[in-house]
Amino acid sequence: MMKEEIIKAFPKAYSAINEATLLSGFTMASDVFACSLLRTLAASKPGGKFLELGTGTGLSTSWILDGMDEAATLVSVDNDAKFVAIAESFLGNDTRLKLSITDGGTWVEENKGNKFDYIFADTWHGKYLMLAEVLAMLEKGGIYIIDDMLPQPNWPDGHAEKAINLIAYLEGREDLLLTKQVWATGIIIGVKK
Ligand SMILES: C[S@@+](CC[C@H](N)C(=O)[O-])C[C@H]1O[C@@H](n2cnc3c(N)ncnc32)[C@H](O)[C@@H]1O
Repeated sequence: MMKEEIIKAFPKAYSAINEATLLSGFTMASDVFACSLLRTLAASKPGGKFLELGTGTGLSTSWILDGMDEAATLVSVDNDAKFVAIAESFLGNDTRLKLSITDGGTWVEENKGNKFDYIFADTWHGKYLMLAEVLAMLEKGGIYIIDDMLPQPNWPDGHAEKAINLIAYLEGREDLLLTKQVWATGIIIGVKK
């Protein structure tokens, strides 16, 4: 019977980033199954323009980079310099990656005209804030991915309602074809028509 294990090698930098993450006290680390899916989907966009909102320490970043080809590029945004420094130290020499330490809202405001083939929204912006603006940055055929859509132990009071509203909004978008996966932390994938 099929098992949920990940057989393919993890990204080279992953275990070092994971160790540094555990030491850093970062508590919002991406789930490894979500990361595996991120890598698989990343491989579907050769030469693509990738956007990650919410770098954290670079865990998901390492998986996305591992799925991308040499011609693809990734911009990853986070406002916490301390955590991004970990991503920088392990992934900073990858010329396909641009780490941007800034507020997500400011970044979206300043980059509204840019288009991306793949957006992993893992912070407030592009998920619970400025969602319409971020979806406007998605190319036709582009993939939008979010995780943590099933109740998580670290959700504050009132967050479940926000998640329900987010799902309803995404479902209501005529330009997105969604699949909601009740798997891992709860993942939604949308592709733009
Ligand atoms: C769920 S974590 C990202 C986890 C990361 N993708 C990983 O693989 O572990 C959310 C991130 O959003 C960042 N964040 C919170 N508020 C933000 C803001 N206003 N602008 C940009 N980033 C923000 C936090 O610093 C945190 O790293």
